Amino acid sequence: MDYQLYYETIPTGVDGLDSIIGGGFIRGRTYLISGETGTAKSLTALTFLIQGALKYGEPGIYVSVDETYEQFVEGARRFGWDIEYLRGRGLIEILVPEMDIVDRIRRKDPTAIAQSLVASIREYVASLNAQRLVIDPIAPLVSMDKDVQVLREYIRVLVMSIEREVGTTNIITTEIPSGSGAISRYGVEEFLATGVFILGIAKALDGTFKRVLFVRKMRWSPVHPGIYEIEIVPKVGIVVKNQIRERMVPVTYLPTL
Ligand SMILES: Nc1ncnc2c1ncn2[C@@H]1O[C@H](COP(=O)(O)OP(=O)(O)OP(=O)(O)O)[C@@H](O)[C@H]1O
Ligand SMILES: [Mg+2]
Repeated sequence: MDYQLYYETIPTGVDGLDSIIGGGFIRGRTYLISGETGTAKSLTALTFLIQGALKYGEPGIYVSVDETYEQFVEGARRFGWDIEYLRGRGLIEILVPEMDIVDRIRRKDPTAIAQSLVASIREYVASLNAQRLVIDPIAPLVSMDKDVQVLREYIRVLVMSIEREVGTTNIITTEIPSGSGAISRYGVEEFLATGVFILGIAKALDGTFKRVLFVRKMRWSPVHPGIYEIEIVPKVGIVVKNQIRERMVPVTYLPTL
């Protein structure tokens, strides 16, 4: 029996990405975008959401953990994405978790907090018949270093509950602390994800800087490890270009080039 038949693959909406990951994302699964600050994690996740809606008619929910609604809409507008227009057409909805989420995770049972966020996500998903979901980033960035175990439990329950109870195809983002050499912030995100992408910045020998993407893991898909150049194209999003074969010096964390 061909078990592949049970996996429906959906196009990511990111130009150039599907062909290097075996066709696209598996519907209903969760993918991680990791990288140091400013490596285009949010833009990549939003390309999946916005192009998924525009090109494939799959509405999406953006959970904005770092930015208020106004900050996010204004930032997107500067990039050439009209969020209000997309909202008006029922193609996107923005969910901003309450600001005191860090305190609440710390004080209360992380499972209960994750489940209350999943309940809100389910309501938004139902109202739009959303097919895609982005949580950016998966955990609040405010330092909770002393509470890593608590945060790990919160992340684990959040991702597992979304896959079981919501049914969307998901991207979560997480920051790699500069110089840590880790591939995620809390060391648990990569194990929950079906696929992991690491974004970074590297310097070529001629001194030019390039934005790059490394496919670190892709369960059930034949992927040839490689580092690809990416480009930020206003109004469109992230575009994946050629594989990089020349020697480069990593500026942010990347596997040795
Ligand atoms: N119109 C544009 N053209 C080219 N580059 C742009 C444009 N708009 C933003 N950028 C670049 O994209 C980068 C930010 O991307 P993004 O916000 O997706 O990164 P991030 O990894 O999510 O960052 P953070 O760690 O702050 O969450 C900025 O550093 C900026 O240089
Ligand atoms: Mg971001």
